[in-house]
Amino acid sequence: MRIDILTLFPQMFDSPFGIGIFKRAIDQNLIRVSIYNIRDYTHDKHHTVDDYPYGGGAGMVLKPEPIFEAVELIKSGIHSEQEDGVLPIILLTPQGRPFSQQIAHELSKYSNLILICGRYEGVDERVCEHLVTDEISIGDYVLSGGELAAMVVVDAVVRLLPGVLGSEASSWDESHTTGLLEYPQYTRPAVYREWSVPDVLLSGNHAQVAKWRREQAILRTLKRRPELLDKANLCLEERQLADRLRES
Ligand code: ADE
Repeated sequence: MRIDILTLFPQMFDSPFGIGIFKRAIDQNLIRVSIYNIRDYTHDKHHTVDDYPYGGGAGMVLKPEPIFEAVELIKSGIHSEQEDGVLPIILLTPQGRPFSQQIAHELSKYSNLILICGRYEGVDERVCEHLVTDEISIGDYVLSGGELAAMVVVDAVVRLLPGVLGSEASSWDESHTTGLLEYPQYTRPAVYREWSVPDVLLSGNHAQVAKWRREQAILRTLKRRPELLDKANLCLEERQLADRLRES
C-alpha cells in the first residue's frame, strides 16, 4: 500500500514511522509512506498556506491552491505507476465521519491512500467539495491539527495489511470485528499480591477457556459499552446470556 500524507508539520511523522510495526512494514516494502509539506506547493515569496476567512471571524483558513497542487501532482504519479480505479483522498477533520475498525478494514483494501491533515480553523471548503473523497474524524474532540488523527488512521489500517502482523494478532482483530470488547488477559505470576489468575485459565481446558473468554467479553461490553452489544455478532445462546446478564 502506498500512503501519501500532506501536512504543514512533516517532522511530526518522523518518530512514529521510524519504529515498531511501521518501520518493519516499510523495511519489508509492505507499505510506502511519503510525507509532503503543503508549504512546498506555494508560489509566493512568503510561502503562504493560510489566509483570513471570508466573512470575518477568528483564526485562519488553509488556502486551496497548494493542497490542490500537491494532491494533483501525487495523483499523476500514482496514475502513471498503477491504476486500480478508486483513490481515496481523505481529509482528517473533526467534521468527518467517525473512524472505526470497520472503516479501517474498508481502507485497508485500497492500494493507495492520500491523507490531508487540516490545521488552524479549517480548510477552504472547495478542497472538501472538489478534491477530497472522504472526511474522517477520530473522535468528538478537537485536536490542533489532523496529524495525530492521520497517524491513528494509518496505524489502524497498516496493522490489517497481510504480512504486517503475525497470525496471532490478526485473529485478535477478527474477534474485535465481532463488535465485543476484549476479555481480560493475565500473565505470570499466577498469584501476585494475593490476587489470583482465574482458575479456568490455569485448567488447560481449551473449550472452557474459550467459553469463559467469550462470556467475559460479553460481560465487559455490557458494563462498559452496552450500545455495542446490539450490533455484536452473537449466537442465540450468547444473546440469551447477554439478556440474562442485562436483567441481573
Ligand atoms: N483535526 C482536529 N481534530 C480532529 C479530529 N478529532 N479528528 C480528525 N482530525 C482532526
